[in-house]
Amino acid sequence: MAQTTKTATLTFENKQVELPIHSPTAGPDVLDIRKLYAQGGVFTYDPGYTSTASCDSAITFIDGDEGILLHRGYPIDQLAEKSHFLEVCYLLLYGELPTADVLEDFESRVTKHTMIHEQMHMFFRGFRRDAHPMATMVGVVGAMSAFYHDSTDVSDPWQREVASIRLLAKMPTIAAMAYKYSVGQPSVYPRNDLDYASNFLRMCFAVPAEDYEVDPILSRAMDRILTLHADHEQNASTSTVRLASSSGANPFACIAAGIACLWGPAHGGANQAALEMLREIGTVDQIPEFIRRAKDKDDPFRLMGFGHRVYKNFDPRAKVMKQSADEVLDLLGIENNETLKVAKELEKIALEDPYFVEKKLYPNVDFYSGIILDAMGFPTSMFTPIFAVARTVGWVSQWKEMIADPAMKIGRPRQLYTGPTYRDYVDVENR
Ligand code: SDX
Repeated sequence: MAQTTKTATLTFENKQVELPIHSPTAGPDVLDIRKLYAQGGVFTYDPGYTSTASCDSAITFIDGDEGILLHRGYPIDQLAEKSHFLEVCYLLLYGELPTADVLEDFESRVTKHTMIHEQMHMFFRGFRRDAHPMATMVGVVGAMSAFYHDSTDVSDPWQREVASIRLLAKMPTIAAMAYKYSVGQPSVYPRNDLDYASNFLRMCFAVPAEDYEVDPILSRAMDRILTLHADHEQNASTSTVRLASSSGANPFACIAAGIACLWGPAHGGANQAALEMLREIGTVDQIPEFIRRAKDKDDPFRLMGFGHRVYKNFDPRAKVMKQSADEVLDLLGIENNETLKVAKELEKIALEDPYFVEKKLYPNVDFYSGIILDAMGFPTSMFTPIFAVARTVGWVSQWKEMIADPAMKIGRPRQLYTGPTYRDYVDVENR
């Protein structure tokens, strides 16, 4: 727990409540209100948790004003440039950068768990071919608890470790199978001689009719996209996983709940929505109309890929993603990509517009990622599943941290009740 050296005094009506103030290693102090209801008889009220810390965590830190994102203290731009996804996974899961032999052992453990139980292949047949891959992933990941009974007891540290490796290892396989099923192609089994990102690309794009060579440019780009999406403090889907897990539910069911939450267009679904929006805009001359609509209170349209609850400056992931978009399209020889042109011009215009400046709306991680994924050959329906593959390590790391905390309690928020007060039942003939 953080340092506790100060208190705040809350004075209201004829009451005075002393609230401890905890100081973190980074970020704002927190007011500990756990005794507020018992001592003051009142709740706090914070729909959407704009000012509420739901837990203490040592995994990821965001400074939204400075545009800083740290994983166990290491800045995301350095990790994106110098590290690779499975090393970042080790860092998030265990707290330190691994030595070479520890990393090799970890990567081998993950690689050797990438296949799914053969009978799980049957699940995919129960879905319509045109099912959104996120629907398939929610179903199949939840169903993992029907197969891997030997890693569902969350009170057993060893079973928690096995479930963590299984989830990290099998998520790309399940996402790739969901994609293959949606395009009517046979699933492709993982290979143990490929790295994580290359394996995923091959499982998505290889066909039995010919050999598939992983393009190192695409593999590096995919690995970087996974790294940039790995974890992000207590975002909506991570909070979903924490709340679901606080009841002691098994990890597969809780991660499936996280996938379901991520799907929403305000969250992980924004990468699909952002590319579709850029395509709808079509050309640079159409941008002003969309900017007008985004500012119109009566128009539900929002600039997808813009804005963030925490970042009130540039999302550092968007910066790296923008740079990667330029590199990947250039390396792939894709010139005059109209969508990238529209994205850059839209960003430029928006960042000079008083509405966006005043509301501190900047591009977020979802604004450029779709352009890269599209260039790599993925349909927009696979953008959020790829986000889910990446975020699995974040969900699992946060889950492990919470479950291992002896002070962990079931999450059970209170409410501000606005319904009818007590009244007696009225028989139907008297109504
Ligand atoms: C992710 O939490 C995380 O860390 C998430 C994430 C992660 O890695 O886990 O970073 C991933 O989800 C990124 C965000 C992806 N979503 C989008 O790109 C969808 C578009 N963005 C918005 O829906 C919105 O910005 C949110 C949901 C991201 C944030 O919403 P908030 O914090 O609740 O802010 P808000 O909706 O209250 O907006 C504040 C103001 C509002 O205007 P007023 O009511 O004050 O007049 O800004 C406006 C909003 O109308 N606004 C936008 C806007 N985003 C906010 N106006 C136009 N276009 C936008 N995109």
